[in-house]
Amino acid sequence: MAERIDGKAIAAEVIASVKEGTAWLLREKGIQPGLAVIIVGEDPASEVYVSSKSRMANECGFLSVKRELPAATSEAELVRLLEELDADPKIHGILVQLPLPGHIDAKRVIQLIAPEKDVDGFSFVNIGKLRTGELGTAFLPCTPAGCMLLIERVRGKDLAGLDAVVVGRSNIVGKPMANLLLAADCTVTVAHSRTRDLASVVRRADILVAAVGRPEMIKGDWIKPGATVIDVGINRIPAPERGEGKTRLVGDVEHAAAEKAAGAITPVPGGVGPMTIAMLMVNTLVSAYRSAGLEPPSF
Ligand code: GUN
Repeated sequence: MAERIDGKAIAAEVIASVKEGTAWLLREKGIQPGLAVIIVGEDPASEVYVSSKSRMANECGFLSVKRELPAATSEAELVRLLEELDADPKIHGILVQLPLPGHIDAKRVIQLIAPEKDVDGFSFVNIGKLRTGELGTAFLPCTPAGCMLLIERVRGKDLAGLDAVVVGRSNIVGKPMANLLLAADCTVTVAHSRTRDLASVVRRADILVAAVGRPEMIKGDWIKPGATVIDVGINRIPAPERGEGKTRLVGDVEHAAAEKAAGAITPVPGGVGPMTIAMLMVNTLVSAYRSAGLEPPSF
């Protein structure tokens, strides 16, 4: 039976270290890390995410700024706010929650955030740094960075030569995840929903990261014995066995069957999810250290 990778507990450890780093920075240098989170419109899921990000920033001892803009906000108004936050020395990290309303060009707006404050790691500069292995000065996207930390907890830091398979090719998870695993000297295969004979690709994986967004698409009998399985998927499916109209959350991996073969596996929920917010706090703290010309703590 697979070891359960407790993302909630590991995220709590990361947050404890962030708090220590914050306290040191404030005590020794008089600098308080500042995170600005912007939401445009009233998407209920985004409101929940943004509130938890702001709440966690507060809990870490950061200056936490939450800007909630109406859905009708123009692109020019949003750009003005970004310019204001970019120029504000109290703000070390800026995050614009996605998706944005359709009348705003999200791709353009995201690229207007200064790379030094882009704690989401979405700017072309940070993507390029990840791609070329300049990890020491980049901001890494939070979900893949969190997955990497979970993988290292199971496998140690030396992943050289391991076969890693990433299922999913999104800009937020799949592509940066593949680049991180490559930077760690894994042999990386990126598969996706259109991959032919996905089963045989997945069967090679010593490390499997599932981020395809399809409930239980990856079957338990595809898992290589002893593999480390990181399930990024959070899919809500009907659960009539719990009563009429009830639902439950499942990952992209068929969990009950996969845990019989895997060496270690993340649960859904309670696996990757908590790590994403924790890594956002890490990135903001790192940004505050860098802004003062200090070597940031490593996680
Ligand atoms: N929407 C869903 N995931 C994310 C994320 O990681 N960052 C931002 N900014 N928006 C999101």
